[in-house]
Amino acid sequence: MADQNGNNYVVQADTLRKDLKLGEVVVHAVRGVTMHVKRGEFMGIIGPSGSGKSTLLGMIGGLDTPTSGTIHIDGQNITNLDERALTRVRNEKIGFVFQFFNLIPTLTAVENIALPIQFAHNRKFSPTKRAKELLDLLGLGDRMHHRPSQLSGGEQQRVAMARALANDPPLLLCDEPTGNLDTFSSEMVMSALREVQQQTGTTVIIVTHDMDIASQLERLVSLVDGRVAEDVDARSSAQLAAVEMLRDKRTTGELSIMQSRIR
Ligand SMILES: Nc1ncnc2c1ncn2[C@@H]1O[C@H](COP(=O)(O)OP(=O)(O)OP(=O)(O)O)[C@@H](O)[C@H]1O
Ligand SMILES: [Mg+2]
Repeated sequence: MADQNGNNYVVQADTLRKDLKLGEVVVHAVRGVTMHVKRGEFMGIIGPSGSGKSTLLGMIGGLDTPTSGTIHIDGQNITNLDERALTRVRNEKIGFVFQFFNLIPTLTAVENIALPIQFAHNRKFSPTKRAKELLDLLGLGDRMHHRPSQLSGGEQQRVAMARALANDPPLLLCDEPTGNLDTFSSEMVMSALREVQQQTGTTVIIVTHDMDIASQLERLVSLVDGRVAEDVDARSSAQLAAVEMLRDKRTTGELSIMQSRIR
C-alpha cells in the first residue's frame, strides 16, 4: 500500500471525471480531479455550491462510478467494480456521514449503531458492546437508549458518526456534517470527529462550505467548477486566504474554540 516514497495512501483518486446527463444536457460535474489522501489525515474539500464536492466524495466512497479516471481505496482499485463488489468495499472500508442524520426513528442509539455490524456479519465485534464503546468515545455514554427524537441535532449526528464507524472502516467521509446544526452542536461534532481521528487513526475527509469548519482541518483541497482550484484560478485563493485568517485567529486565541474534550 505504501508507494516508492513510503507514503501510505487511503485514497488515490487520479484524473477523475464525472459527466452527468440531465435530459439532453451533459453536466461536467467533475473534470479531471487528482487527489491523494494519506492514512490518518484529517482533511477537507471546500468550494462553492455546484463545484462538484459531493460528486467527488460519492465516487471516492463507491456510491457512484467515474466516467473516467481511477480510484484506489486502501490500496484496492475500485474503479471498475460491479455493484456487488462496490457494496462490499463500502461496508468494509468506508463510513458515511451526511448532512441529514438518517437514523432509524424507532431504534435507540445503541440499536442504530449495532445494525450495520449485524448486517455485515462482522465477527470482529459484538454489536451491542461495540455500539456502547463508540457512544462512550463520542461522549454519548448517557444517551444509549434514547431514540433519535429524544436527542438534539448534534447528538443525532454523533450517533450517525458512531454508526458510520461501527465496522471500523479506515476511511470516514462526511458531506456537510454540520450543515444542519447550530454553532454549538457543530463544535461538538467537530471535536468528536477530531477525537475519533486521534483515537482510532481513521482517515477523515470532510466536505464543507463553512470556512470556520475548514479552518479546523489539517489540509484543504478546493474545487472550482469541477477542478482542483489551485490548478485553475484565483477565485480559490480568496477562499483559502479567508481560511488562513481564521486559522491564525484560532492559534492566537482571538477566535475561541472549545478546547475541552467532549466528555
Ligand atoms: N444527478 C445529477 N444530474 C445532473 N447534474 C447533477 C446531478 N447531481 C449533481 N449535478 C450537477 O453537478 C454539479 C456538481 O454537483 P455537486 O452536487 O457535486 O456540487 P457540490 O459542490 O456538492 O454543491 P453543494 O455545495 O451545493 O452541495 C452541479 O452543477 C450539479 O448541478
Ligand atoms: Mg454537495
